[in-house]
Amino acid sequence: MLLRIHQALQPDELAQVRELILGADWADGRITAGSQSGTVKNNRQLPEELPAAQQARHIVSVALARNPMFVTGALPKSVYPPLFNRYGGDANNFGNHIDNAVRTHAATARHVRTDISCTLFLSDPASYDGGELVVQDTYGEQRIKFEAGDLVMYPGTSVHRVEPVTRGERLACFFWIESMVRSDAQRRLLYEMDMAITSLRQKDLERAAQGAAESPEVVRLTGCYHNLLRMWAEV
Ligand code: NI
Repeated sequence: MLLRIHQALQPDELAQVRELILGADWADGRITAGSQSGTVKNNRQLPEELPAAQQARHIVSVALARNPMFVTGALPKSVYPPLFNRYGGDANNFGNHIDNAVRTHAATARHVRTDISCTLFLSDPASYDGGELVVQDTYGEQRIKFEAGDLVMYPGTSVHRVEPVTRGERLACFFWIESMVRSDAQRRLLYEMDMAITSLRQKDLERAAQGAAESPEVVRLTGCYHNLLRMWAEV
């Protein structure tokens, strides 16, 4: 499932993150690449121990934790601390690869299974050419270039790349999520069901304002959602 979250960062948060990271010292992107992806990775990355990276990561983490769409779509169990990358000049692309299945956070030795990959766009798309995130899925290739502040979540199992940036610069934040529900198909069903129930409950609330009782179907469907989650979740 590919999912877009509009304004995962509010404009003031986006401005703060950009200011923090633009002034920092960047390194070669291969610092976190695996052996296959290292041969096709050509970008720059912010070393995660830098104070600017820590502060920017905190802003992103707080924004995501309060976002109901993020929680509903990902059902996060564990989130790898967000990283930042930069494409432009000579370091401007990342060829086809699949992200490593398990990431180990160096500072804490904590493991995260990468069920979901995330990119949070940090540059105005009009300010650069190229730089599309291209994700291969069963419907073919999806070419993704969102507004600054928007986030895309896609299955960690996907082959993907970042097209060469031929003008300007593409700044982004990226990270991985281990979900309580490992299967993308099961997460998708839960997401669809959750969205439908939310819509039904909204209609129920409108009817309740006119004195009608809560509909028993909504209660039963909500129960089904939770019982499916109980069946599938690993916590
Ligand atoms: Ni990747």
